[in-house]
Amino acid sequence: MNKTTNIDKKNTPAMFDNIAETYDKLNHILSFGLDVRWRRKFVSYLNIRQYDTIADVASGTGDLLASLQKLEAKNYYAIDPSENMLNIAKTKVSTAKYVAATVESLPLASESIDLITVSFGIRNFESLNKSFSEFHRVLKTDGIVSIMEFYKPKFFLFSLGFVIHLKIFLPIMGRIISKDKSAYKYLQSSIFDFAENVDVFEILETSNLTKLSEKKLLFGAVKIYTCKKSVRSFS
Ligand SMILES: C[S@@+](CC[C@H](N)C(=O)[O-])C[C@H]1O[C@@H](n2cnc3c(N)ncnc32)[C@H](O)[C@@H]1O
Repeated sequence: MNKTTNIDKKNTPAMFDNIAETYDKLNHILSFGLDVRWRRKFVSYLNIRQYDTIADVASGTGDLLASLQKLEAKNYYAIDPSENMLNIAKTKVSTAKYVAATVESLPLASESIDLITVSFGIRNFESLNKSFSEFHRVLKTDGIVSIMEFYKPKFFLFSLGFVIHLKIFLPIMGRIISKDKSAYKYLQSSIFDFAENVDVFEILETSNLTKLSEKKLLFGAVKIYTCKKSVRSFS
């Protein structure tokens, strides 16, 4: 059985508060602009039905939230514990309801959400089991949760490229642009730790969420896990 993550995550919201201002710029540089395409692709996979209420969890500076507007839901929630990240998101999407909270205790009513999205957020969660059972609680029956996260590609050459990128390019650019060495050390180790130790579907399934699909982007360096709540929650 795969382990879950080994890193202490208590201070990650404060860390994101510190790097909020440079987050978007660094993201685009580190991904060579591909993050924009990944978010677009992510939304296009979800454009299969109408959603009333969408909750974007670990919403950060709101780039995914902005792309999700294409789905034309009636209500959008943007949830993140970092107020500085959310303040930047508010400048991009003015109509969402912004909530400063962690995923482990979502301030949302049970069975109220049609779609939960998380992009590049789950490796920061303190408890994946608690987070996924919260997803199950707040989703309506037939509701969907879709998660995009980095993964270590299986094929040797791509895996090598992934390691070199994270070990060399990320710390250099992180230091130059955000000037916060510890934050980018954390980002690097959280990506490795997560990619090596966590089986997302395994944990989703223990939370009674049923696998719908797994998509790979950039030769498997990014994965999209999509599940559905097929059984009602009993409370
Ligand atoms: C790498 S950013 C991703 C932001 C955005 N979704 C994107 O695609 O750019 C990770 C976000 O996770 C948030 N986060 C950290 N711990 C969290 C938690 N326990 N619950 C919810 N969000 C959390 C951070 O504040 C940060 O904004």
